[in-house]
Amino acid sequence: MLYIIDTANIEDIKRLVEFYPIDGVTTNPTIISKEHTDFLALVKKIRKIIGEQRMFHIQVTGETSEKMIYEARKLREYVGGNFYVKIPICEEGLRATMKLKEEGFNVTMTAIFTQQQALIAAKAGADFVAPYVNRLDNIVSDGVSVVTETVEMFEKQKIDCGVLAASFKTVEQIHKVAMAGCQAVTISADLFSTLMYHPMTTKAIYDFGQDWKGVYGDTTIADMFSGK
Ligand code: G3P
Repeated sequence: MLYIIDTANIEDIKRLVEFYPIDGVTTNPTIISKEHTDFLALVKKIRKIIGEQRMFHIQVTGETSEKMIYEARKLREYVGGNFYVKIPICEEGLRATMKLKEEGFNVTMTAIFTQQQALIAAKAGADFVAPYVNRLDNIVSDGVSVVTETVEMFEKQKIDCGVLAASFKTVEQIHKVAMAGCQAVTISADLFSTLMYHPMTTKAIYDFGQDWKGVYGDTTIADMFSGK
């Protein structure tokens, strides 16, 4: 399962890319607008930090397929590397997706809330569909079920489209979509740290240190090798 960071915050991206096995970055207009900065300079900086190999998903803002296609062409040229254009699921978005696939674009169709939206996006050629798990849970629907059934449906129908689950608020949601065989998740910076936190792990690491120091004091293995 691919781990993608759902943020455009430069400090968060730098930290997470350094400390976690990150496969890419996703953004959308809401995420970008939180940074209150020059959009073009920001996406250029993000590409520089994550390198050419990691995925970078950027959403178009045009409301017609013509504008979406224009923005996608410009963004791919400007950002370079492993680029995915994000397009919201709607008629104009489907038209743009079908045309952009003819030009060899990687496309992620986003703002997916139902299995049938996911299916039509995949049929239009999307490489990934992005269902919004927590936003479904918030309206007393079941985000994990939508992801689980979409994964199963693509398998049964032999459709070559990945599920990039998005909009998470809990580790449990991420765990459940992982168990469903979801190909990718995009997670906020805060939730990444929570993902691997466990008080027993913190205690175990503390105890290792205390036991070692009880016998060897502050001398580490590195000190022993370097003769300190
Ligand atoms: O990638 C989509 C995601 O950003 C939506 O998340 O937390 O705004 O529901 P959220």
